[in-house]
Amino acid sequence: MGKLLKITLVGIILAFVGERIIRFRERLEASRTLDPVELPNCHLLKGIEAGSEDIDILPNGLAFISAGLKYPGIKCFAPDKPGEIFLLDLTDENPVPSPLKISPGFDVASFNPHGISTYIDRKDDTVYLFVVNHPQFQSTVELFKFVEEENVLQHLKTIRHDLLSSINDLVAMGPDSFYATNDHYFLNPIMRKLEMFLGLGWAYVVYYSPKEVKEVAANFYFANGINVSPDNKHIYIADLVGHDIHVLRKNPDWSLTPVKVLHVDTLVDNLFVDPTTGDIWSGCHPNGWKLFFYDPDDLPGSEVIRVQNILSENPIVTQVYANNGSVLQGSSVASVYDGKLLVGTVFHRALYCDLKDL
Ligand SMILES: *[C@@H]1O[C@H](CO)[C@@H](O)[C@H](O)[C@H]1NC(C)=O
Repeated sequence: MGKLLKITLVGIILAFVGERIIRFRERLEASRTLDPVELPNCHLLKGIEAGSEDIDILPNGLAFISAGLKYPGIKCFAPDKPGEIFLLDLTDENPVPSPLKISPGFDVASFNPHGISTYIDRKDDTVYLFVVNHPQFQSTVELFKFVEEENVLQHLKTIRHDLLSSINDLVAMGPDSFYATNDHYFLNPIMRKLEMFLGLGWAYVVYYSPKEVKEVAANFYFANGINVSPDNKHIYIADLVGHDIHVLRKNPDWSLTPVKVLHVDTLVDNLFVDPTTGDIWSGCHPNGWKLFFYDPDDLPGSEVIRVQNILSENPIVTQVYANNGSVLQGSSVASVYDGKLLVGTVFHRALYCDLKDL
């Protein structure tokens, strides 16, 4: 090979890698510094010390919190303790989270809960809880029935599927159907890092029912939180490192049609939809480096945003809370109920705030 050709090739490769590094940096960071935004009536919840990654709330004010996530490359404060689902009654004056018992037969030792979603069957008011689980770092969906009188989760079934190889979050559509985000294409830890570094955009969304399983949306860098609008017409999907919230229309055959993309200058994790206002609340990561490369001397912060009128021409995005990690590290979800705000985190604690006087 001629010398000139070699130099040209090396130049092209360096330019490609350089461009990828710049893009990777952009994807992992918000383009601004994080100024604190404080809320007056907040405290950390007792008993939650190793994550509260996702939160869903029933119409009666009972909140489910998934705790103790072990996720490749992410900090964990209790690596030997199985994950749990906590219950918190938001109608209490001073709510205290308590871990839910799980019916015998389910392998609680390998329980590693991630995204969760509730579904109420109006026929008989049965409450179902769908939980993304990573036993031995695999991906399954566990379907539970919530028996409120006994405070027990009764395990109904485990769902596995080739298209659900790296599930992050899900939103229930029926007593045994859901949409789920698959956050990576690759399973191998090195290939996963490379996938994110190269920005391949191979993450996707799946519709699952016992009769049919299909890919319904694709080309996400890191498909993360997913939820549905209160009128059941639109699906919202967070692309964590794309810094975007995607709005898609739900079709009768469960396929999804892209409607719009809202760019928010932060890494959007789970999405919570306020059933009364339709507002989208999200726990976000202002700096992905600090989340993926944990350094106790340079903590990952927390940020809560609220999006109003996402379908309108001018959605309003409000930064409701921001903290540099001194109080709360790695916020991943923000859920509201009757003037109360619950902020969950990937691996840290959970913050409870009373918004009434705001
Ligand atoms: C983090 O924020 C707190 C409160 O806003 C402040 O006192 C502290 O100096 C900040 N720490 C760093 C490392 O910036």
